[in-house]
This record gives sequence, C-alpha cells and structure tokens, in this order.
Amino acid sequence: MNKRIILGVSGSIAAYKSPDIVRRLQDLGAEVRVILTGGGREFVSERSLQTVSKNKVHDNLWDSEAELSMGHIELAKWADVVIIAPASANTIAKLCHGKADDLLSTVILATSASVMVAPSMNQQMYASLAMKDNLELLQKRGVRIIDPGFGEQACGDVGEGRLAEPSEIARQASELFQNNALGGKRVLITIGGTVEAIDPVRFLSNHSSGKMGMALAYASIQAGAETTLVIGSISVDVEKRAKTIFVTSANEMHEAVMANIHDQDLFISCAAVADYRPTKVSPNKIKKDSDKQTIELVANKDILSDVCQLKDKPICIGFAAETENYINNANQKLKNKQCDAIILNDVSNSAIGFKSDDNEVYFIARDGTDKINKNSKQIVAEKIIKKITKEFF
Ligand code: C5P
Repeated sequence: MNKRIILGVSGSIAAYKSPDIVRRLQDLGAEVRVILTGGGREFVSERSLQTVSKNKVHDNLWDSEAELSMGHIELAKWADVVIIAPASANTIAKLCHGKADDLLSTVILATSASVMVAPSMNQQMYASLAMKDNLELLQKRGVRIIDPGFGEQACGDVGEGRLAEPSEIARQASELFQNNALGGKRVLITIGGTVEAIDPVRFLSNHSSGKMGMALAYASIQAGAETTLVIGSISVDVEKRAKTIFVTSANEMHEAVMANIHDQDLFISCAAVADYRPTKVSPNKIKKDSDKQTIELVANKDILSDVCQLKDKPICIGFAAETENYINNANQKLKNKQCDAIILNDVSNSAIGFKSDDNEVYFIARDGTDKINKNSKQIVAEKIIKKITKEFF
C-alpha cells in the first residue's frame, strides 16, 4: 500500500494542531495533501498547512483552476487514506447524511480509500445522543473513529471531546500500512542509554534518546514481527504494541536480553550500552572534600558479543556510533563481535545521530556496504528492516 493521505481539517479550535498532524504523518513516510473546510480556515492558516504539507491546500469545490489540476474526483482516487482531524460535529453529521456541499464531504463520498475520523468538540456536544448515533452509524459503514481524549477544553469545560494527540492519530493511521514481511518472526531490540550509578545521586550515562531504537521497534511491528524491547534511559514515547522490559544499568540490560533471547529470530542491539561502570557504588552521596576525585571503572559485559556467541544465535545486528575513521572501525566491530551486520552512524554530525530526528547510516554486512541516505529516523528504520528482511529472512 502506498502512503498517500488526505488530511481533512474542519472547524474546531483543535485545527491549530493540524500542521503537527501533517508532520507526524510525513514521519511515517506519507505524502500528505490537506483539504481545509471553511470552518477549519477560522482556526488555522492555509499558509501553515501549505508549508508543512509542501502541497497546495485544497479548499474549494468550485475553484475551476484547482479542478483543472486536481479536481475532487482525482483527489478522491489519489488517496489511500482520508483522515478528518479535527472532525467537527457538523462535518460528522454531513458524512452521516452523505452530503456533498463542500470539497471535503464530496471527496469522502467519491473515495474508495479508508476513512478515519477524529472527533473534536465541546464535551456536551460529544455526549449528545445525536453525536453518539452519528458515530455509531459511521462505524457501521467502516469508518474508523479515533476516540477523543478527556481533559480541560478550550471553552473551559472538562470532559471527553479533546482531539486525540497528533502522535496517536499518526499511530492509528500507521496501522493501516502494516505489511507481513516479518510475519511469524520474533524480534528483540535494545533501546536507549544505560545508567551506571556512582552514588545515590550521580551516574554515568550518554546522550542516547532512544529515537532510533523506537523507530526500529515501530518498523518491526509494522512488518508483523512479535517485538520485545529492552529499554534503558529514553526520552521518546514507548511503542505500545511491543512487549517491554525496562532496565537501568548495562548489567540489568545484559540479564534481560539473556533471559529473553532464546526464541528470537532477530536481535537488534541499538542501545548505547556503557562500556564501563564504577567499580564500587558509594552507598552515600560522595562529599566534596578534596580537589581531586577518582572514580575507578570496570568493564561491562558486551551484550551483543555474548548473544553472537550463543549456539543457536538469532540474526544479530549491531550499531556503531563513530566519530572518526568510521567505515574501518565499523568493519572491525563486525569481525570482533561476530555479528551479521553493523549499522554505522557518524555521531560527530549533529544533524544526524543522537537526539536528532534524522539519521543517515551505512549498512555493513560481510558481503558489502550499503548507504541509507539521510531521512527521518522512521524512514531509515523502515529501510533497515526491509534490508534485514531481504538479506537474512
Ligand atoms: O563496541 P561498541 O560499544 O562501539 O559497539 C556498539 C554495539 O555494541 C552496539 O550495537 C551496542 O548496542 C553493543 N554493545 C553491547 N554491550 C556493550 C557495549 C556495546 O551490546 N557493553
């Protein structure tokens, strides 16, 4: 399935979040075109949506110039998915009645694409019997409803009716794009940084955000694999569809991996594991009573190497974050750790690597090296999973 999404933005205060929804959908690798209703225009500017979507915003059923380039029927045929977010009470009612009095409602009638609707309105309106019946009717017709959240509303009321978060809308949309390339396979991924205690207050750690690992987790689940995550310190949302095990130190990560590795088909060691930990953890906070302080360190076990030594080892993929001489260092790592491939990234470049939303990597296997060009970590993750599937399964 291609990923061509029409985002319909209708009249709700939450329309101000629609540029963020566009971005989240693009992060999935989707091309997004926006249809803005008259009501939506009251809350978000066409220019913002045009800029983020990198496409002209469609808004008028009667604009003959627009109809010449991409009219309502072409738009309806172009889309794989139509998402209305925010969907106002009026837009939802129009869909129920099959009205075709503006571009968005006409496209919905004319499309064979999957339709998703994310209601957003005052809690009393959302609780009304008319709205309940309308949503039930849409669901019966195969429309997916992205439930609104509970909380404080722009009008000051508290209740159910807040637009679902953009990340949640994108997550539900992505479920429509699942494939089965790793169907029936089990995948274990380590994610994030480890934290090595010095005393009850201080620790040694690193800059890993977990973005790349979580993007891989997402791509693995999208490919149909049963996915287990061993997660250290991260600053990203956790993929809810995975089995998760949370750890702090490298030792704990080692233990969690070893306890879960035996029935896995693929191990992706994406975590930034501390190579060393303090030999002793002080039971009390270390006092500032001298000009110099020495912390003795001892090597941690290498999780990836240990998995590669197992008799019935899964396919093992390591990561190499390098700042110099990268290809040589990564090739050396491939040999020393005896893994099946190393994914190399240059962390000296702040536009890619740690904390960045983008990455550019080299996929280094025994029979050659492939570059995966700079893109969002999500797209890079999808390409990595595709490459692994093609090479090893
Ligand atoms: O040797 P280096 O730390 O650069 O290797 C990086 C790769 O090894 C990553 O895949 C990382 O997850 C893994 N690693 C590990 N256990 C360690 C250190 C690194 O699994 N103690």
